Amino acid sequence: MSNANQPSNRRDFLKTVGLVGAGIAAATSGCASHSTQVVTTPSRPTGAKYMGDFAAPKLETVRWGAIGVGARGSGAVSQLAQIEGSQIVAIADLYEDWAKNAGKAVEKLGKPAPALYYGAPDKYHEMLARPDIDAVVICTPWEEHAPMAIAAMEAGKHAFVEVPMAFTIADLWKVIDTSERTGKHCMMMENCNYNREELMFLNLARQQVLGEILHGEAAYLHPLREQMMEVNRGTGSWRTKYYAIPNGGNLYPTHGLGPVAQYMSLGRTEDTFERLVSFASPGRGRDLFAKAKFPADHKWNQMKFQCGDITTQLIKTKLGRTIMVQWDETNPRPYSRHDLLMGTKGTVAGYPARAAIEGWGDTEEWSENEKFEKLYEKYEHPLWKRMGEIAKKMGGHGGMDFIMRSRIVECLRNGEPLDQNVYEGALWSSVRPLSSKSEQEGGAPQLFVDFTRGHWQTTIPLGIIG
Ligand SMILES: NC(=O)c1ccc[n+]([C@@H]2O[C@H](COP(=O)([O-])OP(=O)(O)OC[C@H]3O[C@@H](n4cnc5c(N)ncnc54)[C@H](O)[C@@H]3O)[C@@H](O)[C@H]2O)c1
Repeated sequence: MSNANQPSNRRDFLKTVGLVGAGIAAATSGCASHSTQVVTTPSRPTGAKYMGDFAAPKLETVRWGAIGVGARGSGAVSQLAQIEGSQIVAIADLYEDWAKNAGKAVEKLGKPAPALYYGAPDKYHEMLARPDIDAVVICTPWEEHAPMAIAAMEAGKHAFVEVPMAFTIADLWKVIDTSERTGKHCMMMENCNYNREELMFLNLARQQVLGEILHGEAAYLHPLREQMMEVNRGTGSWRTKYYAIPNGGNLYPTHGLGPVAQYMSLGRTEDTFERLVSFASPGRGRDLFAKAKFPADHKWNQMKFQCGDITTQLIKTKLGRTIMVQWDETNPRPYSRHDLLMGTKGTVAGYPARAAIEGWGDTEEWSENEKFEKLYEKYEHPLWKRMGEIAKKMGGHGGMDFIMRSRIVECLRNGEPLDQNVYEGALWSSVRPLSSKSEQEGGAPQLFVDFTRGHWQTTIPLGIIG
């Protein structure tokens, strides 16, 4: 079955992701100073309200609809079906067999069979019309995230969308405006914020063990070019075309950045993102892979993979703090999210886990292994203490997926604000279009958009959740 929802050619695709007309598809040189830039913030439409600390009315049971049950969505559905007070009511996917497999997996858990919607790209709208769905989990290709999240909120459901929230600044605004107008949650599900190491670093930052935080480093370095072997359906079938975007920027910024942004409480009270610069290496690995694995007339060999293989952003915050972000999904290299946080009294880092903290031995040397375990003994995050064991059994990237999904259900059932608000999802995702623009302008600084319209200054930082 062909995916009728996918743009038919490269130009249509670039149009979809907002790169035609904006002049971004063509490389240019030149350098604009950030001081010459004006970022206009559209005024909040009448009747819309700020959603930063939003808590929805309590739900006794969270009744889910799922859109997209491929590699990611099938796991989401099966875990959500197993969480107390959470039920999978319906599933929508393009493919009949994938929808049925996900439905059967729910039944095998002894749960009622979900209703299935499949066979056409717009079938999910029928599912959204059901009155017995409270929330929708969206695990589809990137270009579908914004329209599907918007449709879910318009249909009166809370939207939970995979990373990134949207691909363009215009689409991020549409998501924000819809959430504010409908009074529905829209959370970008950044699961890495719930990993054991990241949770402990959050705890260390909140307890000021590292002193004044000055700098962070974040990344997504994960060789994924083998996904190109999925030609007709599956992740590689839709994701591969993105690497052909010239000056595409950091296509997947949020796994490393989400946690670092919450350590620094960016977009909440004291500080927020101000501007970034971005530089990319040449794009080589995908062309080489296509040549090595596919015949000359194959569609992957007809594409020119012009997005830089590795891109690096430097972000300056309003308080003058810095964050380095990197992304590479192509070349063979050890996996890393960097996960580094540096303060006046210490630094912690991931991949491999290391720390140098005043009072914990010689701060001139990295303390490793054993000492790091001692840090866990003292500063393990309460959420990991409470759920770590079950999370490891339930799996999903070492347990972080289960903790995130459990927290979503818990917040909805308790009528509490979610751990990640709609503006954080938008801010973290906006690194993609801003880095693309910076690369297109020869590395010129780009100002961040204030999706909160000034409200970040009154939004309380994420606390330590027990
Ligand atoms: N947070 C994480 O750790 C993590 C890990 C993997 C993937 N992801 C994200 O999950 C998303 C999905 O990735 P994947 O690897 O599962 O891709 P996939 O191709 O395996 O799954 C996508 C699914 O969406 C379905 N789909 C597409 N258009 C649809 C439509 N109009 N209606 C209904 N269903 C539709 C497809 O049929 C497919 O089943 C991506 O955004 C990806 O970035 C996140």
